Amino acid sequence: MKILTAIAEAHTEPREKRRVVVPTMGALHRAHGELIRVAREHASRGGEVVVSVFVNPLQFEPGSDYERYPRPERADEDFCRSAGVDLLFRPSVAEMYADDRSVFVNEFSLSKILEGESRPGHFRGVCTVVAKLFNVLAPDVAVFGEKDFQQLVIIRRMVRDLNFKIDIIGVPTVREEDGLAYSSRNQYLNLEERKQAAVLHKALQTAANARRKSADDIIALARNVINEAPLARIDYVELVDAETLRPVQIAGSNSVLVLAVFFGKTRLIDNIRLA
Ligand code: PAF
Repeated sequence: MKILTAIAEAHTEPREKRRVVVPTMGALHRAHGELIRVAREHASRGGEVVVSVFVNPLQFEPGSDYERYPRPERADEDFCRSAGVDLLFRPSVAEMYADDRSVFVNEFSLSKILEGESRPGHFRGVCTVVAKLFNVLAPDVAVFGEKDFQQLVIIRRMVRDLNFKIDIIGVPTVREEDGLAYSSRNQYLNLEERKQAAVLHKALQTAANARRKSADDIIALARNVINEAPLARIDYVELVDAETLRPVQIAGSNSVLVLAVFFGKTRLIDNIRLA
């Protein structure tokens, strides 16, 4: 596996093969393993899989967990090697951002709601770094997890609106045995918080299996399940359209229940598509 840290090196890398990129912030876990597996499938024989590891300061709001975000460099490297990654791109902050940077990528509609409301500036950071990674790594295909559902929808919109010639693949959420979605932030949870966090998946399933179709009823059901966990503090639970992310009144096959819930200081997000 080749490791690159400089943009200039990435730009001069010979590019004859079909390239599939998995952008990550590192602290790689099983769900990343699944993204890499899907990337390999899309690279097919003869193609190459590239993983980027970059903890992007621009997408962390002030006072959030940028400083304490895990950065297990050696473990990430080993993870990529054993997952059969061909190239690991691991730039520094100074490499990615000039001190006097003044150009950003802003999505102005889908970014205003849900995560965007709770985390101002977050999607500006995500879109800017993903656009930069696309320019540096020039993938044919890029792979993202469906756990960050809003992020995936916004990246698809950016790709459409800025005419990136890149196929975006969404990969279904990978869950632990009790249903908790894998996330690098799960490691912030203490034992009791971790145990109680299983209510999130239970709430999503209850909502998905509900015969009721009114959004208010479905949301109320999900909220009730979450509130069974004394340590849970709901940020939002919403039923939205999968493309526009606007609230829907009646659940249909294009509706997604999205939620963000705090356990202690840790904020977890998850979602499920309704049948
Ligand atoms: O989903 C993530 O890990 C990050 O938001 C991404 C897409 C790598 C951009 O920093």
